[in-house]
Amino acid sequence: MTNIRKIEFFDREKERGEIMQILESEPHLINFIYGPINSGKTSLITNLIENLPENYVVFYVNLRRKSIIRYEDFIRVLFAIEEGGFLKKIKNIFTKVLKHITSTGEKTLYKSHGIPVDKSLLETFFKEKSNEDVFNYLVEYFKNIAKHKTPVLVIDELQMIGDLEINGKLIYKLFNFFIGLTKELHICHVFALSSDSLFIERVYAEAMLEGRTNYLLVDDFDKETARKFLEKYNFGDTDIAIQYFGGKPGDLIKLLAQNKDITIFMKETTDEKKRFLIDMLDELLYVKPKIEIGKEKIPVERHKIIDVLKKFKDKEETEDVEISRPEKIYLVNRNILFVNSKSGIIKPQSKIILTAIREILKEIK
Ligand SMILES: Nc1ncnc2c1ncn2[C@@H]1O[C@H](COP(=O)(O)OP(=O)(O)O)[C@@H](O)[C@H]1O
Ligand SMILES: [Mg+2]
Repeated sequence: MTNIRKIEFFDREKERGEIMQILESEPHLINFIYGPINSGKTSLITNLIENLPENYVVFYVNLRRKSIIRYEDFIRVLFAIEEGGFLKKIKNIFTKVLKHITSTGEKTLYKSHGIPVDKSLLETFFKEKSNEDVFNYLVEYFKNIAKHKTPVLVIDELQMIGDLEINGKLIYKLFNFFIGLTKELHICHVFALSSDSLFIERVYAEAMLEGRTNYLLVDDFDKETARKFLEKYNFGDTDIAIQYFGGKPGDLIKLLAQNKDITIFMKETTDEKKRFLIDMLDELLYVKPKIEIGKEKIPVERHKIIDVLKKFKDKEETEDVEISRPEKIYLVNRNILFVNSKSGIIKPQSKIILTAIREILKEIK
């Protein structure tokens, strides 16, 4: 049992080193940070940007915050109106904004605020309804910042606009914009984060991005790191904790925050996942959900889903090619499996899910 008030950011030295190396060289690739749910992608990038030296100007935009259905929604999350701040006082937005941003001693981190602009400019963007204008404006914006400092653009939960259509897919326009900032102009570092492994898979296969991307996996902690993390908070039963929770930071934090006996807490969490899986399989007795692949709609069969789950009976991961597409899409969409497109490996989203899978396989016929 534990009594922890505040959990500090832990480790990630390797990943931080990789990102710092990128930030210290000229921007030339779009960086995709991917990994299972609650593995610590957002925490890593947030912690990193908070500790960056003054010569970086970071714009962090999280697309999960709002539902993005229309062009206006996207503009609204991308930009932050600076009302009480520095923009209000000034007339010439462009030069003054940049002067402010690039002057030393000022706050340089625009975390979760989006890209600061003034209200009238934002209204122009709404009226124009032309995303080309917005991206052209932003290229100029970053070009000017780059004269003095190194801009870094971070878009978290990029999959949120994966299917958004605004005169064609918005994501392609965004990718073109990213390519302009990196590969072509070398003016701004771009990091895109996502837990949606099917989205990353699409990005990975995207021809327009070939040779223009870099993929950084932020996976759950390995066993040794998880052990050190728990020991830091004087957690007693590290062996059993890691056996059930693996190294997922999100789960380990829940474990540290609760006051129940560890075996009871394990059983509760595993049972919850088991119920989820059993309900899913039960539903498949009555309905055959259809998965769209190209123009086809393929029904998902219960027995095939069970066959996929059986692959994890004795091993923790399997090859991507071992699982056919409809079942893979079905299980990834339900956050049961995680696909690593770079390595071609598929594994359960968490150790708890793996345990739950193994337990229900013993129970079902
Ligand atoms: N390196 C870390 N040290 C301490 N806590 C972490 C670390 N990484 C993640 N966490 C915690 O785990 C939870 C999930 O992390 P988060 O960054 O939101 O995951 P993701 O963005 O990959 O879904 C959060 O509560 C976060 O505070
Ligand atoms: Mg996140």
